[in-house]
Amino acid sequence: MSVDLLLGLQWGDEGKGKIVDVLTTDYDIIARFQGGPNAGHTLKFDGISHVLHTIPSGIFHPSAINLIGNGVVIDPVIFKGELDKLAGFNIDFAKKLYVSKKAHLILPTHRLLDAASEAAKGKAKIGSTLKGIGPTYMDKTGRNGIRVGDILLEDWKTRYNTLRDKHLKMLANYNSSLEYDLTDLETTFFQSLETLKSLPLIDSENFLHTAQKENKKILAEGAQGSLLDIDFGTYPFVTSSTTTAAGACTGLGIAPNAVGDVFGIFKAYTTRVGSGPFPTELFDEVGETMGRVGKEFGATTGRARRCGWIDLVALKYAIRVNGVTQLMMMKGDVLSGFSTIKVCTAYKTKEGVIEHLPFSIEPENVTPQYIELQGWKEDLTQMSSESEFPATFNDYIAYLEKELETPIKIVSVGPDRKQTIFR
Ligand code: GDP
Ligand code: IMO
Ligand code: MG
Repeated sequence: MSVDLLLGLQWGDEGKGKIVDVLTTDYDIIARFQGGPNAGHTLKFDGISHVLHTIPSGIFHPSAINLIGNGVVIDPVIFKGELDKLAGFNIDFAKKLYVSKKAHLILPTHRLLDAASEAAKGKAKIGSTLKGIGPTYMDKTGRNGIRVGDILLEDWKTRYNTLRDKHLKMLANYNSSLEYDLTDLETTFFQSLETLKSLPLIDSENFLHTAQKENKKILAEGAQGSLLDIDFGTYPFVTSSTTTAAGACTGLGIAPNAVGDVFGIFKAYTTRVGSGPFPTELFDEVGETMGRVGKEFGATTGRARRCGWIDLVALKYAIRVNGVTQLMMMKGDVLSGFSTIKVCTAYKTKEGVIEHLPFSIEPENVTPQYIELQGWKEDLTQMSSESEFPATFNDYIAYLEKELETPIKIVSVGPDRKQTIFR
């Protein structure tokens, strides 16, 4: 059985958590393939919102196995906090939540290095979530990292001390004014590792290969978004992992020819949190309204998200890089009430008008070119079928489908599981 992928096509926070939760009824295994606690995936049902950072978004379903793949980086402290929050939900984690032995660990000193690096960058800072993501992936590719499987080894403490001491030297080089109590941080870290150890720590690629042979249905859950990809994103204002479809292959051990559907999620507008270029960003009351109505505040950091119109240049690029087979459009309800909806269809550059994403999308290099569509006034949040949608909203969907040359299979009109319309 092939493996389906679900990933964000913009700068993250597209609504991946919600849709994975909705789709989990059709899958046996939900597997996160990259990122770490920089992610904040929100699910809502029975009137309660849940934010997951490391745990895959299929965890609330009774039978699905949730797997944290080798491509993920885990902070045991945040992870334990997530598990503790779910304590009242009667979830048997030892039976339902598996962790790859090859996933890398975020150490307390990785977080300190992230903070020191950002402080040293000053105005040029990435706007990282300060969860230690960059330094942990740097140690992974630098071949210094510590993996989940290492905590089971006899010499594990020696390995830990060696890496910690290296980090402390690096921190000293930053000359930063960062204040911390390492003993305190380490005490919590080591206590939290015991929780991690209580879960099945497995050879996850083997588990998935066996599951594929047994025709189990697998959904790979991405974190962040395509424009934050280390290669294809707006570098250097990106995260440190492969957020695009290829990341599911390296982050889970899935062969490219085993990939089935690729579900690409996008918002009906665009948001970005942290630094970096954003051509269609709005600095007026329209952007302010999107942020207020859409409750655009980071699920992990609480920071206000920057808002702007939808960008088809960037979306087409993300669809191609990922090989998206089906689209899912989120948060159309937030646009209710605007008399016109703008859509960016091209960028004006020094070389003329282009329709592909160029090397740099900094404001001095590109000016977005818009077309205008008629808006809709109706509240979409209580609608349960396409036939109830206002004609101008259906026109918006039809226009996007034509331009993006990919079917929009799900339209989401609110944060709740129930506010999901299949087309
Ligand atoms: P993720 O990181 O991709 O899982 O997305 P986040 O959870 O960070 O951000 C998406 C936010 O939008 C969350 O607060 C969701 O509850 C909310 N949301 C998801 N879909 C919809 C929708 O269709 N309409 C509205 N109004 N909110 C939505
Ligand atoms: P989900 O999975 C939105 C952004 C940060 C920063 C940049 C680098 O919820 O969609 P990092 O901590 O990874 O080094 O930060 O990436 N970022 C996200 N933005 N959603 C996310 O995850 C993000 N994870 C990281 O704001 O600009
Ligand atoms: Mg998020």
